[in-house]
Amino acid sequence: MFVSEPVTEMLPAAACTRAIRSIVLACAGILALLPGPRPALAAEAEPVVAPVPTLAQLADPAWIATGRSKFVQTCAYCHGQEGDSGKVRPFRERKAWDPQVIHDTIADGRQRGANVMPSWKASIPDELIWKIVAYIRSLEGKPRN
Ligand code: HEC
Repeated sequence: MFVSEPVTEMLPAAACTRAIRSIVLACAGILALLPGPRPALAAEAEPVVAPVPTLAQLADPAWIATGRSKFVQTCAYCHGQEGDSGKVRPFRERKAWDPQVIHDTIADGRQRGANVMPSWKASIPDELIWKIVAYIRSLEGKPRN
């Protein structure tokens, strides 16, 4: 009996399908390795924005303490540990300082001539920026004399 004829016809076809599949997979693998715009990754790189805290949260001693330690670690070499030094008015002498303005200055940075306040949004998580705002506000309105 010669029943194997359809099988011998099928075999090359199956092998061909398999070969095509592995070529396609290899191409997909190479494409994945190629540099180029990756919208999904680009979106991930955008800093996550934390919800705007309430005034009660900004007055929370735990937030102020966390903000203080980050400020001392990261900001004090320009501003002093309590915001008394640097190129701006001491933070203690500020009054009714809008938390959103403080936040945005830290997040985006600012420049006046040679005085550069770096932007921090790429290196400090937004929620931690708000805790630093809490610390800065805790200094406000308490001038040294
Ligand atoms: C390399 C020095 C430098 C570092 C580090 C730095 N700042 Fe500044 N900052 C400045 C300068 C300079 C200005 C004033 C910019 C201007 O005159 O517009 C400023 C301005 C500010 C202001 C606005 C003050 C005002 O009176 O309007 C705030 C708030 C502030 N910085 C917070 C921070 C915080 C928080 C950090 C740490 C995360 C930080 N800065 C780190 C240099 C620095």
